[in-house]
Amino acid sequence: MGQPLILPDAEATESLAATLARALPEDAGGWTILLEGELGAGKSTFARALLRALGHQGTVPSPTYTLVEPYSFPNYTAYHIDLYRIESADELEFLGWSDLQDGLKLIEWPERVPQLRKAADIRVKLRYDGAGRAAELEGLSVRGSAAVASMVPPHTEVSP
Ligand SMILES: Nc1ncnc2c1ncn2[C@@H]1O[C@H](COP(=O)(O)OP(=O)(O)O)[C@@H](O)[C@H]1O
Ligand SMILES: [Mg+2]
Repeated sequence: MGQPLILPDAEATESLAATLARALPEDAGGWTILLEGELGAGKSTFARALLRALGHQGTVPSPTYTLVEPYSFPNYTAYHIDLYRIESADELEFLGWSDLQDGLKLIEWPERVPQLRKAADIRVKLRYDGAGRAAELEGLSVRGSAAVASMVPPHTEVSP
């Protein structure tokens, strides 16, 4: 998945997120996925579809005001995090950062705290592309790179 992926509509963003969800381990506790991109690029759409693909059935409210929204799964808790209002790493403790480390972290606006890249597994970079969007996925850790490399889109025939 080194090439930019063209996402013509929101369903394509959701489908990509579901494909990433299937590439994560049964226990994704401790994983960190960065969702980069400007306002409207599709970060929340991606996060919502990922959480649904992992099995969450309710709503997925925006963490814009709460900063963190937790989701319980059988093997771990996922945290949907929005760092838009955070200005530096020092401020991460405002959202109880150290308590989130055992979970799967889906982080919108990770650009606010560039140091996060060092401890992250996967970076999803979303951008506008005409009326649609484009995405680039990059593994930042060994396990993250392996997960990205193993992503198999739906309806794709895998030749033997
Ligand atoms: N690939 C896409 N093509 C067109 N519109 C999209 C695409 N992905 C998401 N959208 C739409 O873009 C809008 C903003 O998405 P959102 O996920 O809220 O962005 P962000 O969280 O990055 O601000 C939503 O209306 C969503 O349906
Ligand atoms: Mg958003």
